[in-house]
Amino acid sequence: MAFRWAILGAGNIAGKFADAVMRADGCVLSAVASRSMERAEAFARRHGIPAAYGDYAEMLQHARPDAVYIATLPGSHAALTRLCVAHGVPVLCEKAMFMSSAEAEAVLGYARERGIFAMEAMWSRFLPAVREMKRQLDAGGIGSPCFAEFALGWRTPDHPGSRFFDAAQGGGAACDLMVYGYELAEYFFGPPEETRQVAVTWGPSGVDETEAILLRWPAKGEQPPLLAVLTASITANLDERAVIAGPGGTFRMPKPHMAKGFTCMLPDGTETEWHDLQTINGFVYEVEEVVRCVQAGLLESPVVPHALTIRCARLFDAINAAKPER
Ligand SMILES: NC(=O)c1ccc[n+]([C@@H]2O[C@H](COP(=O)([O-])OP(=O)(O)OC[C@H]3O[C@@H](n4cnc5c(N)ncnc54)[C@H](OP(=O)(O)O)[C@@H]3O)[C@@H](O)[C@H]2O)c1
Repeated sequence: MAFRWAILGAGNIAGKFADAVMRADGCVLSAVASRSMERAEAFARRHGIPAAYGDYAEMLQHARPDAVYIATLPGSHAALTRLCVAHGVPVLCEKAMFMSSAEAEAVLGYARERGIFAMEAMWSRFLPAVREMKRQLDAGGIGSPCFAEFALGWRTPDHPGSRFFDAAQGGGAACDLMVYGYELAEYFFGPPEETRQVAVTWGPSGVDETEAILLRWPAKGEQPPLLAVLTASITANLDERAVIAGPGGTFRMPKPHMAKGFTCMLPDGTETEWHDLQTINGFVYEVEEVVRCVQAGLLESPVVPHALTIRCARLFDAINAAKPER
């Protein structure tokens, strides 16, 4: 029998997810819910979804899907994840799944208690280019890394009501972009030391517009210590990239959150390239991961575990703690 997905929130990214479900093996879209019935119906028509609801809870009660994708803004993720768990429905929730560690610990703890699967939709961790760069790194392709950089930033729309500048809805560089830098850094190197340096600039709407984070990993056996600089901005077009450097070479990956390939430059200047020629919609991999985990009876994904989401939320705590009193 097909795995039945439902979507909460009929906005921008929900459309890309709907396309991914259609491409994933053994999956169908069974329902969509929006705060607006009109928007839900229009979305359902566009994507050939059989049921549309103008209320999230009503959908959960009546459609009883195998999993829900939460495609709303971070300000509502904690409450909606809780709502799905209360209805016994597994959750894949858009990034940033939570805005603070208090939210993350409480809601993920509740999901575990109730025995319901929950995962942050950190799709980048499943991309073939990201996985291949990690494989080459672990195989010693550049030796032990000593420095890394993750930069993500673009000049986001700044019209009145723009989600990027709405603090209550999870606007700001941390929830929108730093989440990728941090969760990718951990993908390559594991959890960093708890102490870190944080520098943030705050905009007039009260959101973190630009920030730089310095993370460290201590020396381990033969491995030297590692430093990583993570930058994110919603007001500046950064040269979006991941760079990992070691004594034997340097990996460079443009736009690592939506990676399509990377290069490896050796100390003598020789460069090799790796390109992902298979991916059409990169959300397919996270869709397949949820199906695999739910069918195996897991409560969390080994690729995007709860502890990762909680540690990232702790970084948000540190960024928010840097906010000056007004
Ligand atoms: N993985 C990726 O590549 C990627 C890319 C872009 C965005 N995202 C993430 O996806 C999420 C949604 O982003 P989006 O670009 O799709 O945003 P969007 O189109 O502005 O909004 C998505 C939905 O959020 C709900 N919403 C909007 N404003 C709200 C408010 N003030 N209060 C409560 N709910 C509100 C609405 O649901 P209703 O239809 O029910 O009203 C809306 O349809 C964010 O967490 C974002 O970070 C991920």
